[in-house]
Amino acid sequence: MSAREDGDNLPERTRTPSTIVGELDQYVIGQDDAKRTLAVAVYSHFRRIAPERPDRVVVAKSNVLLIGPSGTGKTLACATLARILGVPFASADATTLVQSRYVSEEIEAILARLVDKAGGDVGAAGRGIVFIDEVDKLKADEGGQRGISGESVQHALLKIMEGALVRVGDGRYLDTTDVLFVCSGAFAGLDAIMTRADNYGFIATSADDNQRILERLNARVKPTDLLRFGLIPEFTGRLPVVARFESLDKRLLVRVMTEPRDSLYAQFRELYRNEGVELVIAPSAFEQVADLALGYKTGARSLRGLLEELLTPALYRVPDDPGIAKVVVTSIFREPVLVRREARTA
Ligand SMILES: Nc1ncnc2c1ncn2[C@@H]1O[C@H](COP(=O)(O)OP(=O)(O)OP(=O)(O)O)[C@@H](O)[C@H]1O
Ligand SMILES: [Mg+2]
Repeated sequence: MSAREDGDNLPERTRTPSTIVGELDQYVIGQDDAKRTLAVAVYSHFRRIAPERPDRVVVAKSNVLLIGPSGTGKTLACATLARILGVPFASADATTLVQSRYVSEEIEAILARLVDKAGGDVGAAGRGIVFIDEVDKLKADEGGQRGISGESVQHALLKIMEGALVRVGDGRYLDTTDVLFVCSGAFAGLDAIMTRADNYGFIATSADDNQRILERLNARVKPTDLLRFGLIPEFTGRLPVVARFESLDKRLLVRVMTEPRDSLYAQFRELYRNEGVELVIAPSAFEQVADLALGYKTGARSLRGLLEELLTPALYRVPDDPGIAKVVVTSIFREPVLVRREARTA
């Protein structure tokens, strides 16, 4: 029985970090290190709150920080994770927190949404996941227009990350002690901070050291880096697990369009199928789209728009012309080829 069917928010016993990664693989392309880190964090989270081990050593909660450029799958990975695990999931944007006048009310609203997602079950919500995007906009020295500083938002957030009783309407309270918090941000400029010469902690390599392990250690984001970026120590201290998302290269962008279960290609093919038309896009056309998308520097975000532009002319004509059986796109610089149905012979 799956976690979803029995209404229990714990993952099945058979679910392990590797099976979680296997499920993520169906939706999130690349980002192997980040997927593993996330899977281990989530797995540990559910082990930690497993009710069948009352004698357990109390393991501290490991909230997660996702760092990586825009459009590389941070939000997607987190939302997918919540969906496959079947746990209540609520997301929020740190920028709206900075702009709001009453941060604590905004935070209460986020947790109220989590309770909603749990069908009103405060206990289930207490084992859910809260995703807070754009935490890099909470720099200590930056304030919103209404004058709430990023730093005060960090303070407000760290209270609930630590574990607090928060009012969620109609006199009920949600205990956030076991809520897993996943924060995320692009952290533009962090690489420059990490490679600064005075940044001790860099480990020099010697010939017989394991190169891969050293590379990992050196690529590790240290709390001091986040401090220099503008996060306060108490806040970074509550995000002990850091997963890095890499920018997507051309090859990965092509895979993003074609491979996931609900890939853009699958979606557009479905759209055409509803018109009784088969859509075929040549691999070379996907590569051209990926090339254009690379130039936009918004990761996979621009792919949908580019494909839509490419396909709109054909989609415009298809509904008027039942004679079209197939649309073939070979290049973004060429009109799609419209293949007609065989004329019926009597
Ligand atoms: N690694 C990936 N695999 C599959 N699809 C992806 C991947 N990265 C991005 N996408 C696609 O691009 C869209 C935007 O990705 P997502 O919202 O996860 O970006 P993000 O990393 O959260 O960016 P931002 O920092 O701007 O919030 C997704 O809806 C998804 O379709
Ligand atoms: Mg995002």
